[in-house]
Formats: sequence, structure tokens, C-alpha cells
Amino acid sequence: MVVVACATVRTLEIKRQLDPHDLAAVAELLALAERADGHRAVDDHRWLDMAEGGRASHAGLVAWESGHDHPVGYTQVSRGRHSWALDMVIDPHHRYDARDIGPEMLRGAIALIAGEGGGHVHLWVYQPTGAHDEIAAQVGLRRGRDLLQMRRTLPVPVEGNQLDLRPFRPGHDEARWLEVNNRAFAWHPEQGGWDLETLTTHQHEPWFDAEGFLLHERDGRLAGFCWTKVHHDHEPPLGELYVVAVDPDFQGLGLGRALVLAGLDWLHRERGLTVAMLYVDAADARAVGLYDSLGFKVDHVDRAYVGDVPAAEPGQETAPTPTAEPTA
Ligand SMILES: CC(C)(COP(=O)(O)OP(=O)(O)OC[C@H]1O[C@@H](n2cnc3c(N)ncnc32)[C@H](O)[C@@H]1OP(=O)(O)O)[C@@H](O)C(=O)NCCC(=O)NCCS
Repeated sequence: MVVVACATVRTLEIKRQLDPHDLAAVAELLALAERADGHRAVDDHRWLDMAEGGRASHAGLVAWESGHDHPVGYTQVSRGRHSWALDMVIDPHHRYDARDIGPEMLRGAIALIAGEGGGHVHLWVYQPTGAHDEIAAQVGLRRGRDLLQMRRTLPVPVEGNQLDLRPFRPGHDEARWLEVNNRAFAWHPEQGGWDLETLTTHQHEPWFDAEGFLLHERDGRLAGFCWTKVHHDHEPPLGELYVVAVDPDFQGLGLGRALVLAGLDWLHRERGLTVAMLYVDAADARAVGLYDSLGFKVDHVDRAYVGDVPAAEPGQETAPTPTAEPTA
């Protein structure tokens, strides 16, 4: 554990693993923030990684303030395949100091990343406010991608001819699916460039359901797919269109629209769901236009603040360079 003095009254503990005391304190902080904000502040998967013991290049930064027996903020650093992810939460009762607590934690996180060779950083914020823009700017991060969460009620009226679809067959469809996914999302920083390991990891997730992973073949090729995911932890449960794509050779033929409709129909008919949800890059005009025309409305915006952290020289202070993020 490293303890860094931040100000007269605050300390920042930087931990590779959270001990049971920290774990309980941070979990309580996350629950408190969720009650106040109506959503989780830290990505579930990344939090679970940390709560289950942390991985190499993961760290939790816990901010304490004298006179309080609970943490006033928490920031998590997680190394991804191509970049670093930062998640941050500030106790709702201490947000009058957010413009101090936030940058203190983020500077600690950035220094840690610099010490591990630096790299591209995404700070993910769910339902950002002006304060988040200011906090990010203070540490040299700039607004990157906006992710829209869109929703609509089910069922949707059925249109025209139904597509011929079949479920994904584990152990059989991986290679062709990876090819179509990576061609369709060649421009996308996270959804492009998947390998078999990434796909297999998803297939082992408890929510994975091959029945709701719908494939459409044409001319003996995989032409497009609609992969759904059911969120039972929500009331009412949400049916997510998790990934939808059409191979570039088959785009513009109406397949995207038909696949989305088929996915929505499956979620309602086979799983009895009444609300559908999806995430889409705000800059992906074609996809946003498609969902808009199908009656989806923006529920909220999530935002990535981005920057590039140079590797630290011994004893050097580090700030990220806010470089251009690939749009969309
Ligand atoms: C988004 C995507 C699934 C659409 O599939 P598609 O088969 O090309 O789309 P469709 O032919 O059904 O057309 C859907 C709408 O997009 C419009 N569209 C099609 N090609 C377009 C283009 N080049 N530019 C702008 N709009 C276009 C169509 O007019 C149609 O609108 P309408 O329904 O109001 O008439 C496909 O482009 C794709 O796989 N993109 C990459 C992956 C992606 O972004 N997935 C969605 C996010 S998860």
C-alpha cells in the first residue's frame, strides 16, 4: 500500500488489492452513489475483477478524509487489452469538494499508469455532468466518445418478410462470426479486432444464451447477426441488443433493420420482455438513425474522457496528452 498526502485533510491509499475492510467500505460507497444517482458508477465487470482479488495492473485508489469513517471517493485503474480504463466515484455527501477530490484521485491514477509504461486512457462516466467535464479537463483528459443508451417498449409491430435465422452454434460458428464482426466493426476501438479468446470469454459469461444470438446466412455466407443479452437484475428485465452487425458486402440491403426487428421480436416472444435497450456510439449516424426510425429514444448518455499518458521517467511528474480519439 502507498499512502499519498493530498491536502491537509485527505489521504489517498493506492492498493493493488482491496482488503476486506476496504472492500466493504468501497462497496458501501458504490451502493450509496447508486442510490443517489440511480445507476452504478463503476463498470460491473471491472469492479468484480477488483473485488475478486484484482489482476496485474489493476489498482484501487481510496480517498479518505479526516473526521469521516468512510471513504469520500474511489477510483479504479484497470488495464485493458489496448488501453487503460478508469472508473471514479465520489461520495454524494462530499460532492461539494468533487473538483478537488476527483482530480486528486485521477492524478494518482495517472501517475500509476505512467509508472507502468503509460498508454491510452479512457475515463468512463455514466450520465456525465458539467462537473465531470471540469474534473477531466483539470487532469488533461478531454471528451472522447459519447455512448447513447437507447430504449423502447416491446412488442414492435412486425414488418414485411421475416428473416431466416438460426441460433449461434458454439464450437462451430466462432471463426465466421469473428470475421463478420471484425469486418463490420473495423473502425471501432472496442468491438473491432476481437479474437477467439474474447469471444470465448463472453460465451462463458452467465448471461450468455446461444438461443438469443441470431445469425442470418445468405449465399452460403454469414451475412449478419443480432446478439441479445437479457438483464434480469433490472425491474422490469431489459432485453439488450448487445451487438448487431451486417457484413459490409451485405450492408444497405435492409438486413440491419430486419435483424434488429428479429432480435426485438425474439426478446418479446421467447423471453417475455417488455423493454428493449441498446448502446450505440453517438457518432455512428447510420446505426443511430436506424434505431431512431424504429422508435428507440435516448435514455441517457455515457461518456469516455480520453488522453495519452506518457511513460514516466524516474522521479518525473506526469500528465496525459489529450490526443484525438478516433470518432465513432
Ligand atoms: C448499422 C448496420 C447494422 C445497418 O445495417 P444495414 O443492413 O446496412 O442497414 P439497412 O440496409 O437495414 O438500413 C438501415 C437504415 O440505414 C440507412 N442506411 C443504409 N446505408 C446507409 C449509409 N451508407 N449511410 C446512411 N444511412 C444508411 C438506411 O436508409 C436505413 O434507414 P431506413 O430504415 O430509415 O430506411 C450496419 O451498417 C453495420 O453492421 N454497421 C457496423 C456495425 C454497427 O455499427 N452496428 C450497430 C451498433 S451495435
